[in-house]
Amino acid sequence: MNANALRDARDYEEKQMPFVPEEERALFHLTGGTGWINDPNGFSYYKGEYHLFYQYHPYSTEWGPMHWGHAVTGDFIRWKRLPVALAPDTEADKDGCFSGSALEMPDGRHLLVYTGVTADRLEDGTPIFRQVQCVAFGDGVDYQKYEGNPVLDGQDVPESGSRIDFRDPRVWRDDDGMYRMVVGSRTAGGYGSVLMYESGDALHWRYVTAIDAGSRYGQMWECPDFFRLDGMQILTVCPQRMLPQGLEFHAGNNVMMLTGDYDRQTHRFTKQAVRAVDYGTDFYAPQTVETPDKRRVMIAWMQNWDTSHARPQNMHLFGEMTLPRELSVRNGRVVQNPVRELAAYRKDPAVYRNIPVGQETSLPGVNGRAIDLTVTVRPADTERVFRYFRIRVAKSDKYETCIRYKPETGTIRVDRTRSGFPYDIVNVRDFPIDPRGGEIRLRIILDRHSLELFVRDGEQAATFKIHTPQDADAVSFEAEGAEAIVDIEKYGLYFGQPQGV
Ligand code: FRU
Repeated sequence: MNANALRDARDYEEKQMPFVPEEERALFHLTGGTGWINDPNGFSYYKGEYHLFYQYHPYSTEWGPMHWGHAVTGDFIRWKRLPVALAPDTEADKDGCFSGSALEMPDGRHLLVYTGVTADRLEDGTPIFRQVQCVAFGDGVDYQKYEGNPVLDGQDVPESGSRIDFRDPRVWRDDDGMYRMVVGSRTAGGYGSVLMYESGDALHWRYVTAIDAGSRYGQMWECPDFFRLDGMQILTVCPQRMLPQGLEFHAGNNVMMLTGDYDRQTHRFTKQAVRAVDYGTDFYAPQTVETPDKRRVMIAWMQNWDTSHARPQNMHLFGEMTLPRELSVRNGRVVQNPVRELAAYRKDPAVYRNIPVGQETSLPGVNGRAIDLTVTVRPADTERVFRYFRIRVAKSDKYETCIRYKPETGTIRVDRTRSGFPYDIVNVRDFPIDPRGGEIRLRIILDRHSLELFVRDGEQAATFKIHTPQDADAVSFEAEGAEAIVDIEKYGLYFGQPQGV
């Protein structure tokens, strides 16, 4: 155990950051200082700012002993980096500070709840990470770990649960003054579950109930979040090792949203619907925060574990966060849209109305790699709907990423085969949408190395990493089989000065 792990990480980050080339970073998506990042952690509003921590291994672009990196923002777009907040430097977390969450205590301290891990072996020699829950208190920059850590360990897991896979506490404080949290776990039967605990002081916790468990969805549920949204109760979880289910869930790790009711007296959660949160290749471990004006904003790691080894060589950074998204309920469904604060960064509009589109065509002013582009498409003739409508972005002679809408089957396909990845990874995703006679609105946010697609004002979202050289910046439109009529609204996204995030 290295008692100086925090100081070392802070020093290392400061020394290395100047070597990270500016173009490796996104403009307005949060990246780590240097090295590797994964899950967002501790997304919280504290003393007038939004704090976001993240799983961080500054020393290489590979996952390693986890630290918590730290950044703050006033508007979800412009981030400021703060010194590393947690390092694996105590008995309870000597091999890593895994994911967790944060809140402001009534006495003004910032509470962090996280998973401490120790490398261990099962009797048969299989290596495992033993997982316990720990707390730390701080002032928004420096954090002291509670000397009584862990506050929960394997003994606190019910008989039917796993004493090894027990991680990612998500804490909140209820109106009755009690702290409650949900923790991701696995049942003895080998499928995912979410356990709830409560405490009067955030130090002494007791088991309440299993909020949900599901044999149909993977083997372990990571990174739960549990919150109310416009009268609905939402549980999001990340099941590991799933088999695909139609076009809703793909193989591997997924992010799943369970909507339903929650009885605060009995702590019973009754689920009514289960859906994917994002239909792209790169979206994992989301967390939400409630803003002072009562919006629910979600952020996620813009990656996928299975393809996280596939990245250009000689990079200084690996991993970035999604654009924060506002959640709301429309017609009984949760919708997600980029935070409204993004609008302040939009410049140079290029606006077109009622443009007939057939053969592949480009329009003056509609291009770029840091853009906010909304395309509304309808058939020119409702009796003869086009077979495909395609939008190609990040395009040159050699590269393109293609978004293809097929009304006949009610599907959208995003194909990043030619986006610059020199690896045989998943490059194509299809997902179902309601065809609605060929009309559709698509909003596309590009930020250097990513594409986030929002369908019909946020009814569905799909997120993709791309590794296309920045000079491939053309955008084109094409309707096959019959003409389409399109409205286009494009903005460049700009900052006064480089972000350094
Ligand atoms: C999810 C996850 C969490 C864990 C963390 C470790 O991506 O596996 O369950 O806390 O990453 O970095």
